[in-house]
Amino acid sequence: VEYKDDATAFNGLKKGTIAGKGVINNEMSNRLMQMLEKQGIPTHFVKELDSRQTLVKKVSIVPLEVLFRNISAGSFSKHYGVEEGIVFEHPTIEFSYKNDALGDPLLNTYHALALKLATPEEIKTIEDYSFRINEALKAFWLTCGVTLVDFKLEFGRLSDGTIVLADEISPDPCRFWDATTGAHLDKDLFRRDLGGEEEAYREVMKRLPGE
Ligand code: TMP
Ligand code: ASP
Repeated sequence: VEYKDDATAFNGLKKGTIAGKGVINNEMSNRLMQMLEKQGIPTHFVKELDSRQTLVKKVSIVPLEVLFRNISAGSFSKHYGVEEGIVFEHPTIEFSYKNDALGDPLLNTYHALALKLATPEEIKTIEDYSFRINEALKAFWLTCGVTLVDFKLEFGRLSDGTIVLADEISPDPCRFWDATTGAHLDKDLFRRDLGGEEEAYREVMKRLPGE
């Protein structure tokens, strides 16, 4: 995997650059995946090669994006007409069909099975891992003064069919809010033209404790 500074939003409609993002996302994602591995979640991570490149296991991506939410924000608030910042008693999970031409439409597990995107066993594994990943990441980020609002995960199949966490865990596919001020420390600054995204990525990286 090579991590670039290129940023897109709204299915590639908005394009830009966040200087330094590739280096940050590479290191952050690798550190978090290694932490998850220690907690029994298999990931694609093998070895960091340099500041922007990481060796990962070859997978075929399961075309289901997992959208996991602890707090209302983004499309959840828009779809259901609620303010951002409502802390859910129980987290929510949604799937979207990873298909750019169709605009990644939301679907439920029956749709995913009908489209043969994954088997029932794979969907169960993906859901179980997603809840465990949320618990691990939420608790970890809290110790760094960061609230994990929501995030997107992607899983892949190894050649023997094993499901592993793939893609990345970074301020691109995660909403991070400062636990004290509520300030955005993620890609929403870019998506919403709020500015300060480069500083925010550096800030959230700084909060990660040293190895
Ligand atoms: P949403 O509120 O726009 O549905 O996004 C939920 C979370 O998933 C948010 O942290 C951003 C992330 N996400 C991606 O990384 N890629 C995507 O294509 C989408 C729709 C969301
Ligand atoms: N990166 C995705 C896109 O290009 C979505 C996002 O992060 O907002 O649409």
